[in-house]
Amino acid sequence: MHVVITGASRGIGLEFVRQYLSRGDHVVAACRDPARAAALAALVEEAGPRARILACDVASDASVAAFAAALGDGTVDLLVNNAGVGGGWESLDGVATDVALDTYNVNALGPLRVTRALLPHLARSSAPRVAHISSGMGSIADNGSGGAYAYRMSKAALNMASRNLAVDLRPRKVVSVVINPGWVATDMGGANAPTAARDSVAAMVARFDALTLADSGKFLDWKRAEGFPW
Ligand SMILES: NC(=O)c1ccc[n+]([C@@H]2O[C@H](COP(=O)([O-])OP(=O)(O)OC[C@H]3O[C@@H](n4cnc5c(N)ncnc54)[C@H](OP(=O)(O)O)[C@@H]3O)[C@@H](O)[C@H]2O)c1
Repeated sequence: MHVVITGASRGIGLEFVRQYLSRGDHVVAACRDPARAAALAALVEEAGPRARILACDVASDASVAAFAAALGDGTVDLLVNNAGVGGGWESLDGVATDVALDTYNVNALGPLRVTRALLPHLARSSAPRVAHISSGMGSIADNGSGGAYAYRMSKAALNMASRNLAVDLRPRKVVSVVINPGWVATDMGGANAPTAARDSVAAMVARFDALTLADSGKFLDWKRAEGFPW
């Protein structure tokens, strides 16, 4: 299987690269600045020709276009839109609209940009899938604590983008889902997070393996088989 992972320099993205490579898949690891992704470089070097690193800033139309061009006429069976930024836990008074716009650009528009740019590559797959890493914080139904406006709103918008893609890409048989990875110990999740990236990613990989067109449009959860409430 040919997998593309964005935000592969660290955290959950880096762990996706590790796990897909360890089972023999082909991986394109996309990151903002390959020169500063030492851990990723080590993984990719060890994997040899099955893996490569390409630059991709998901916040930039030009960068995403260059990334898609660098993929050439390759096939993408699974795109994992993982790159994301946290928006902090700001209160209503603390919302900075410029930060919120940046957060939206990365977390909501980023996955849309990359998915659209890679449609020709997904079209070459016999079972094309796109998995966007969302968050429980993007759930309207689950929101009982407020705050974190920029992050919550960006992930809720991502959830809508994924559902829209599921509808619009159904004729092309492209599956689009969002998934909550849990609260994961990464730079974003912090050291107090109860879940290791290894466990979250192993569970998500199993979910992605099981995806069919009937799942397209769903909000999955890393742990709960019934999915996450919208
Ligand atoms: N950790 C959690 O508890 C948790 C919970 C729910 C959802 N999530 C989601 O899971 C995903 C991964 O999070 P994480 O915990 O692994 O976070 P992380 O450790 O902060 O890593 C974020 C990754 O996204 C990349 N990134 C940020 N902006 C980018 C851009 N404009 N273009 C390309 N890459 C960019 C970063 O690259 P650089 O190294 O270049 O900065 C880094 O590789 C995110 O979408 C996040 O919202 C995480």
